[in-house]
Amino acid sequence: MIGFSRADQTLVCDGVPLSAIAEAEGTPVYVYSAAVLRERYRAIDGAFGRHPHRLHYALKANSTLAVARTLRELGSGADANSIWEIELARKAGFSTADIVFTGVGKSPAELECAVPLGLKAINVESVGELARVEEIAARLGMTARVALRVNPDIDAKSHPHISTGLKINKFGIPIDEVRALFKTIGSRPALKLVAVHVHIGSQVTSTEPLARSAALVADLVAELRDVNARQARGAGAGPVALEYVDLGGGLGISYDGRTMPTVAEYVTALLNAVAPTGLPIVIEPGRAIVGPSGTLVARVIDLKPRNADSQFAVLDAGMAELMRPALYNAYHAVEPVSLRAGSETQYELVGPICESADVVARDRLLTPLEVGDLVAIRDAGAYGSAMASNYNRHPLPAEVLVDNGQWRVIRRRQTIDDMTALES
Ligand code: LLP
Repeated sequence: MIGFSRADQTLVCDGVPLSAIAEAEGTPVYVYSAAVLRERYRAIDGAFGRHPHRLHYALKANSTLAVARTLRELGSGADANSIWEIELARKAGFSTADIVFTGVGKSPAELECAVPLGLKAINVESVGELARVEEIAARLGMTARVALRVNPDIDAKSHPHISTGLKINKFGIPIDEVRALFKTIGSRPALKLVAVHVHIGSQVTSTEPLARSAALVADLVAELRDVNARQARGAGAGPVALEYVDLGGGLGISYDGRTMPTVAEYVTALLNAVAPTGLPIVIEPGRAIVGPSGTLVARVIDLKPRNADSQFAVLDAGMAELMRPALYNAYHAVEPVSLRAGSETQYELVGPICESADVVARDRLLTPLEVGDLVAIRDAGAYGSAMASNYNRHPLPAEVLVDNGQWRVIRRRQTIDDMTALES
């Protein structure tokens, strides 16, 4: 059995006891299963069958080098959200032709660096950004490959903080502006339009909005082809030959055991929606690949009464290490690494940070905990370590990858000297 499971009452990752890793490396520590990473990647990749497609792993979910490298070795491309994620991708061995550059606020300096790289595409988020890319490319005497990110005005029905598809959200280009660009982009020689892009949000728990936004992209592709055909008859701009459609990321995972769309249902929904275009599909999955592969292991450092029904269990990991519960009220399953005998008790699992928002898990029934016990905070592989901070001067936690029954540190714990090295 791959991933996290119980052997003799104690949690193991691909056969390696989490307690052994915690003893050696201390806590808090992120532990990832390479087998789960591979299995999740291959499940999504395989679901496309023979339809031409490419996965561009969304580095923002987890860009620790060894994780990024593992995905590159599987054949993944990369979705980068800043010039620094592009640099990271290149360090992890991705070629520039396998990187797409998304992001709602690409600074002038980032664009100056990115345009000459010859990326697979710059996913452009506004008419102004398109003009800035064009200006740089023209100055360099080159043609920039761009995708237009459309804002489809579709509700992903996810948490409002991570829904991006509505008109009121800052992301993408309004549909009408995309239509207007179709009429002129063919006559802008410094730009090559290679794709239409959409991404409506993250932790999307139904295929319906994803299918609807994919269908909207397919409709836009058909409209662009009409524009092309009309212009080819006239003396207007040359035809634009799209190379693929980019349908973003967003597939949710089950944090609490609730039923989620399967990978097959998700991919079928996308395929059905864009099949009429005949174009290859690019997707940018993050969470669905890396989320279930990671667990944050923490130690109970204090216990104290809370109310008649429950106790506080204070952990050595909190919002500095895993921000999702505090930021989105997100649910992560928590379980003791080793189970003690005794009846289940209700715990409020909190972090050590000086904020009442620093709650890791509310009202959980767990077998008895004692000070010093280890707990596993599950499904923390995505947007866990990637969003960690030094708040309260917590060092960034160590990260460990378990691969083939062996484990190794893929990022050592930060030290106070690492932290202050930047300061004077
Ligand atoms: N593509 C684009 C353009 C994105 O903005 C994102 C995520 C993805 C792909 C990957 O989405 P995924 O497959 O992972 O859902 N910090 C939040 C999630 C923020 C997602 C940001 N964009 C969380 O912890 O839930």
